[in-house]
Amino acid sequence: MNKKNIAVFASGNGSNLQAIINAQKKGYIKAKIALLVCDNPGAFALSRANQAKIPIALLAPNDFSSRLAYEQCLVKILKKFKIDLIVLAGFMRMLSPYFVKSFKNKIINIHPALLPAFKGTQGIKDALNYGVKITGVTVHFVDEKMDHGAIILQQEVTIKSSDTEKSLAARIHAVEHRIYPQACKLFLGKRLKISGRRVKII
Ligand code: GRF
Repeated sequence: MNKKNIAVFASGNGSNLQAIINAQKKGYIKAKIALLVCDNPGAFALSRANQAKIPIALLAPNDFSSRLAYEQCLVKILKKFKIDLIVLAGFMRMLSPYFVKSFKNKIINIHPALLPAFKGTQGIKDALNYGVKITGVTVHFVDEKMDHGAIILQQEVTIKSSDTEKSLAARIHAVEHRIYPQACKLFLGKRLKISGRRVKII
């Protein structure tokens, strides 16, 4: 059987990209990381992809006349690479309904809080400032709304009274690096069955 192709989308550090690369190298994920899509020429994720010899599509949105033109170009590239799974790993752009429909139920995202709490780009800080005692990590399918699609995996992280944003982020990231490869493996093994908002692991 042909190996499935993964595309990882990242805009920044790329530690989740690295976790997926490591899981693939270990044989835990049996798929090819066929492409890194990046929108930021300064992203450290680019060095990680280079190091792992992963092809890169570096597309700056400002070079396109519209969001649609940008996403049409992306879709074309992803089809060319025969991508089966899109893994958003700190990709700081919202994808339009056009893009989401083009890869229906094939896009997953990781969020550093227990959705539906603390949506948005500051999930760790927002949870800490709100004073919750428990936060965590969510991996979910991507739909048309932000941080909204059906939930695949969640793992809680207890907040300590001594926590700073930095110390909490370190524990959140450690959980992310464990459960994101796990979610990829479940998807690639066809073990995720979506029914409405619920995802059954079979
Ligand atoms: C992670 O915390 C993830 O939950 C959020 O963006 C961050 C990306 O980190 N969506 P990295 O670039 O993978 O290190």
